[in-house]
Amino acid sequence: MPSIGRSFFCLLTTSLLAGACLPGETQQTNATMGSPRSASAQHTFRLDAGNVTYAVGVTPSGSVQTVYWSARLAANDPIPAAEPIGRPFEIDDSPQEYAGWGGGLLAEPSLKITFPDGNPDLVLRFVSAAPEAHTLKIVLKDIQRNVFVTLHYDIDPETGILARWSNIENRTEVPLTVEQAESAEWNLPSATGYSLRFLSGRWGGEDQLQTRAITPGNTVLESRRGFTGHEFAPWFAVAQNDRVTEQNGEVWFGALAWGGSWRITIEQDVMQQVKIVGGYNPFDFSYKLNPAQALTTPKFYGGFASHGFGEMSRIESTFQLHRILPHAPAPRLRPVLYNSWEATGFNFDETTQEKLADKAASIGVERFVMDDGWFSTRAKDSSGLGDWYPNPQRFPQGLKPLIDHVHALGMDFGLWVEPEMVNEDSELYSKHPDWILNFPGRPRTKARSQFVLNLALPEVREYILQTLTKLLSENDIAFLKWDANRNFSEPGWPQKPADEQKQLWVAYVQGYYRVLHTLRERFPMLEIESCSGGGGRVDLGVMQYTDEVWPSDNTDPFDRLTIQDGFTYAYTPAVMMAWVTDSPNWYNGRQTSLSYRFLSAMQASLGIGANLKWTGEDFSTAKHLITEYKRIRKMVQQGALYRLVSPRDGSNISSTESVSEDGRSAVVFAFLHSQQMGYRFPTLHLQGLQPETVYNIRALSGNLSKDTPAQASGAFWMHQGIRLGLTGDFSAQAVLFTAEQHEGKQEQGRTESR
Ligand code: DGJ
Repeated sequence: MPSIGRSFFCLLTTSLLAGACLPGETQQTNATMGSPRSASAQHTFRLDAGNVTYAVGVTPSGSVQTVYWSARLAANDPIPAAEPIGRPFEIDDSPQEYAGWGGGLLAEPSLKITFPDGNPDLVLRFVSAAPEAHTLKIVLKDIQRNVFVTLHYDIDPETGILARWSNIENRTEVPLTVEQAESAEWNLPSATGYSLRFLSGRWGGEDQLQTRAITPGNTVLESRRGFTGHEFAPWFAVAQNDRVTEQNGEVWFGALAWGGSWRITIEQDVMQQVKIVGGYNPFDFSYKLNPAQALTTPKFYGGFASHGFGEMSRIESTFQLHRILPHAPAPRLRPVLYNSWEATGFNFDETTQEKLADKAASIGVERFVMDDGWFSTRAKDSSGLGDWYPNPQRFPQGLKPLIDHVHALGMDFGLWVEPEMVNEDSELYSKHPDWILNFPGRPRTKARSQFVLNLALPEVREYILQTLTKLLSENDIAFLKWDANRNFSEPGWPQKPADEQKQLWVAYVQGYYRVLHTLRERFPMLEIESCSGGGGRVDLGVMQYTDEVWPSDNTDPFDRLTIQDGFTYAYTPAVMMAWVTDSPNWYNGRQTSLSYRFLSAMQASLGIGANLKWTGEDFSTAKHLITEYKRIRKMVQQGALYRLVSPRDGSNISSTESVSEDGRSAVVFAFLHSQQMGYRFPTLHLQGLQPETVYNIRALSGNLSKDTPAQASGAFWMHQGIRLGLTGDFSAQAVLFTAEQHEGKQEQGRTESR
């Protein structure tokens, strides 16, 4: 776990300039105030928190540069000064914090603007800074025009994760067009040999961890889809070299909090400077700023870990739990849910759902979720979307009888919705065909038989809020699974003047956030899952409004090991849902045992998605493992995760360990793909235990080998390790380690936190 450190801010002025850098200088609103510094002052601003120091320097000519971002320094350590610019040419090739495109800049800019006279030259220089305890604001201005940019910095005292974003203001007398607006530029310490990690994927194959050497040129990760997308996660990690492991080595990492089209560019420029620039995707981007208007970019979070990718993920998880999720710093534990989608598809009625609910309750499920197909004429994917009232044939008395039935069984009730979408065959579309994204006169492309409603339009947001408010007021619904099964096509906003239509890329996402925010305000106990055709909408932006996410429609427990492994590089296991479904799996036909399926899903937030046509023995296995899961879920969801053995790259085995916050209990999951040549399953060495504490062990499923001691010290389990007897194909085991007299305490977690 990251060390918890006091955060402080200090300003060092190496050559004093009267009146510079006073808190509050950024408040100036008068266009005549503030002009770039050209005096001979040199300033350094420093933020320290967790195990991180971040420092920004300003040259006498006002170039604002990253001068340090790495492990925490002592309070009185000297911080390097910003580099003088203009060697050997006049071009600023320094590691700028936020570069305008102008002055011959060769590297990726942070801001590109075209002025009405056709001139795009923009050179941003320091005006002022406002340091506070954990925050810093730096104001930049173009060397001539009244374009101001405020760089915002906010460091998390616990983890050292720094939030950065920018506010671009037009204080000229004329409109201007922003063509590229990044949130921030992250400059790494000057070195070569860096190695990049990122997550790529597709529908049914999300979050595959990729490794690439950083060499001259650019690597671009992006979504042009209007949504976060399946292809790349808005996340990066850069290791000091290709020998960095889970436990060793320095890692710089970051995540963009934006659920629309985004771009992260990893560049090694001509001076071998490695920088990461990220924000709105400049593809098809154009944002008109009238005089006195401003554009704010999404937050781009950056962090640093000294002890490999494992520590990186634990820092990210702590940060997301304590700062990002709804109810942070104490997000609620995820209940064990049942979801009917794989069991019934579109083919069900009230009785079918009640029968599933009876069976789900009998194994200990806590939340029953009815998926797609409950509303309007929705008996197939081509009709009904947009009309959010219960299907009168399937639910003649509305949803109340089913919800009452579910409540009587001791579960709460959840419902699937897809509020941003509409089918052509719906009442909503016949009344409001102009509410969808479209270019007038051009064909309207359907995907999964549906169109995207334009959430930039206030009337669309109002409609969604009204219908959902009615649904949630008339029915006792604890949870919404908020789906979005397609991306933008024809991204037109014809209601706007031509030169403002491309603002859609920003305004849509702002509209979506506004709807979620209002809904949460109206229904504070409501929980929401973000789903988008599987894992197409997972990012730190949406995680501020949703309690959990659906990583993939691929529910095969073996494929899920790799998806979950990749997911946890960037996101906390606390939000990672996983269902136990039927075998053979619907997606790839793979056959696995029920206990293998359970143990794969128990590494995450457990759900059941099978049709529950199980044998009596299956029901007992399920009941037993759900009971065990409730005991361990606090440490699985919110504890410290150690990826002991990765399932990637064709590995025959994999294993994870989750350790409770107090370090006095841990659970290990181990998976064998296919035993070959009779080799024994390798020894697993635990991590993160207290070396001198004695831990008892107990198998949650199956038996331990006879030669396994029933108890031993943390040092023993970490250094001697544990030998599990896994054999055959697709076998799995889970083992609980509990400090003496500790077992049982974890079980209380959910009750306490709700
Ligand atoms: C896509 C989701 O990922 C599935 O879980 C399911 O909810 C379907 N949509 C329903 O249409």
